[in-house]
Amino acid sequence: PGPPISKICCIGAGYVGGPTMSVIALKCPEVQVTIVDVSKERISQWNSDKLPIYEPGLEEIVKKCRGKNLFFSTDAKKAIQEAEIIFISVNTPTKTSGNGKGRAADLKHVEGCARLIAGIATSCKIVVEKSTVPVKAAESIMQVLKANNKQGVRYSILSNPEFLAEGTAIENLINPDRVLIGGEETPEGQKAIETLCWIYNKWIPKEKILTTNTWSSELSKLAANAMLAQRISSINSLSAVCEATGADVSEVGRAIGLDSRIGSKFLQASVGFGGSCFQKDLLNLVYICEKLNLPEVAQYWQKVIDMNEYQKTRFSQKIIECLFNTVSEKRLTIFGFAFKKNTGDTRETPAITVCKNLLDEGAKLNIYDPKVEKSQIIADLTSTRVTDNPEEVKKSIEIFTDPYDAVVGTHAIVICTEWDEFIEMDYDRIYKLMIKPAYLFDGRKIVNHEELQNVGFHVITIGKKLNRPGLMRSVGSISQQ
Ligand code: UDX
Ligand code: UDX
Ligand code: ADP
Repeated sequence: PGPPISKICCIGAGYVGGPTMSVIALKCPEVQVTIVDVSKERISQWNSDKLPIYEPGLEEIVKKCRGKNLFFSTDAKKAIQEAEIIFISVNTPTKTSGNGKGRAADLKHVEGCARLIAGIATSCKIVVEKSTVPVKAAESIMQVLKANNKQGVRYSILSNPEFLAEGTAIENLINPDRVLIGGEETPEGQKAIETLCWIYNKWIPKEKILTTNTWSSELSKLAANAMLAQRISSINSLSAVCEATGADVSEVGRAIGLDSRIGSKFLQASVGFGGSCFQKDLLNLVYICEKLNLPEVAQYWQKVIDMNEYQKTRFSQKIIECLFNTVSEKRLTIFGFAFKKNTGDTRETPAITVCKNLLDEGAKLNIYDPKVEKSQIIADLTSTRVTDNPEEVKKSIEIFTDPYDAVVGTHAIVICTEWDEFIEMDYDRIYKLMIKPAYLFDGRKIVNHEELQNVGFHVITIGKKLNRPGLMRSVGSISQQ
């Protein structure tokens, strides 16, 4: 028999849909993959030389498959009608108004997709929810689809959450820790699971493909992100203890990570976690627990978010304190704006909070990031979440494309993203271009602190008190070398 499916459609050409479908197209040359999006601009970017998102390895795959078995289109109708499997990977932002405002995930796009499919489909479809959605979202999709059912059309809904991390998306997709597929425990549901397994099994061994019931799968996605975020908040909470006592959080992290029950990954103390997923999924989990009348559980996970806010603010406060308790009219350099290295994504980036806190204190900022577009930084820092005076902010920030230009005449460098290039820079040259005393605040613990101190910098980092007479934090008095 031929392949169980010949055509796939994916609704949503974003960070999740784009890379995931590109890899499926690469690994399943006999399957035609079409990604559709409401945004004409997005689709034309995917069809151009400059893709809308940056991911190492993505461009090569898109160039290889595009026009052969990978297509980007705005014609959702045709793609949905033809496909046997439809992935929904539209965005599910936190609600900004109404019930669950600021916490619950907004499912309007997901619901929109379900209605779209119901209106178009004339044959049986497997609908796969790929977006991060709250537990029982599959049920809602099913309700919409069933209520609009046509003769002879049947739907199977699967939950197939994405675990890819930005910056390593292609690597994660090609060689995942596991693939999770949740479906109904009926013969039809099991058959749908098998069909989706067939796709992944093209390049992923069976042992790594985990099948569960729908709700377990949906909850696992939230749980995985909540536990990862919790690890960062845990190590960040300890970083405060380290700074107050003289322990070094890197040493503590290494020591506890060697316990195989704990494990060594994801214990890097930082200025705080960012990204589109962690906070959103935590908020979502908190909201669900409250709805389920589990207030103690809700409070427990809320604390993970609170600790992250505390860490971002604590770091900003430290910068201000070290600069003699005032940054008013002082120009500071921000190195890195993306929420982590190797991505141009700024969603929930800790850099926004740090910049906001410094701007609130009257600082002027020179901002440099190797991948984030100037317009994005301006949009982020002038949004209503950050300021009610966007014009004032625009006057206070300047965006640079050369890091050495960005440091000229500034009092301090603040590292907010762990880009590799910040490790290798010519700090002798940078030091000479800055106002003295020159400060460097390492929010990612990536640069060589001792070397920088030898250059002349006052270095302040996270989770470690850098003891050096004359170079230590000095509040209220200027300590020259
Ligand atoms: C995350 C999950 O890793 C991924 O599995 C899920 O599908 C989506 O959410 P992502 O947000 O892309 O992926 O990046 P991730 O590498 O998890 O980093 C999230 C944030 O935590 C970043 O701001 C990162 O800098 C920070 N982080 C990570 C730390 O501060 N310390 C660490 O040890 C690890
Ligand atoms: C613990 C640490 O494991 C050990 O490294 C340290 O030196 C002393 O404290 P112990 O208290 O002897 O050792 O037992 P442990 O196996 O860690 O279990 C502690 C409790 O956690 C037990 O009540 C155990 O039943 C419970 N537990 C453990 C769980 O409920 N779930 C688990 O997954 C693991
Ligand atoms: P994610 O990180 O979850 O992939 P993105 O915002 O990067 O989120 O991508 C989601 C994409 O889904 C966007 O390009 C958006 O235009 C698209 N989208 C949202 N709703 C619909 C819809 N009803 N039909 C088609 N595309 C949609």
